[in-house]
Amino acid sequence: MEDMRQDMETILFDQAQLEAKVAQLGEQISRDYEGKDLLLVGVLKGSVVFMADLMRRITVPAAIDFMAVSSYGSGVKTSGVVRILKDLDRSIEGKDLLIVEDILDSGMTLHYLRDLLRDRGCASVRIVTLLDKPERRKVDIHPDYVGFQIPDAFVVGYGLDYAEKYRNLPYVGILKPSVYEGK
Ligand code: IMP
Ligand code: MG
Repeated sequence: MEDMRQDMETILFDQAQLEAKVAQLGEQISRDYEGKDLLLVGVLKGSVVFMADLMRRITVPAAIDFMAVSSYGSGVKTSGVVRILKDLDRSIEGKDLLIVEDILDSGMTLHYLRDLLRDRGCASVRIVTLLDKPERRKVDIHPDYVGFQIPDAFVVGYGLDYAEKYRNLPYVGILKPSVYEGK
């Protein structure tokens, strides 16, 4: 933990701030999905920590499923190519989908995913993202629920990684550029 802390430029959101925000999102979602057939769709792997915390703050019945897509490889900049590595386990017909994302950056991943899922006959599709970098948006996509808007910086922790590292940090921090520069 200590050596990972040294790779952070700053801590953006600590454990308490994340917990409070997730509770707030859970309340809002619980109100909006009263009487619906809610299916939370987590985008692997970045969303797992957020998903685990958020689902326990949702008080209406909810099922969960996961998809894995690749758009980044291990680097920092998006390639724009979205490939499905793992699809949903079950049919989503008639369900009210809520896609759970860690961060919305260019928006290309979610734009693609949302359209793909919409075409499968679900009743509705919405998006919840813990973090949003609106400055970086390349396609027209607006999340329905946002935890925090952040500036254009590369962040890790609370599920978010750089080259598969830092996902297990309990906070969200800005990674020191020296960690990935020259790679
Ligand atoms: P988009 O398609 O450009 O919106 O990319 C979204 C995905 O890129 C996220 O689900 C993350 O996996 C990854 N990503 C974007 N920005 C960051 C970041 O600052 N830190 C870690 N992963 C990021
Ligand atoms: Mg992701």
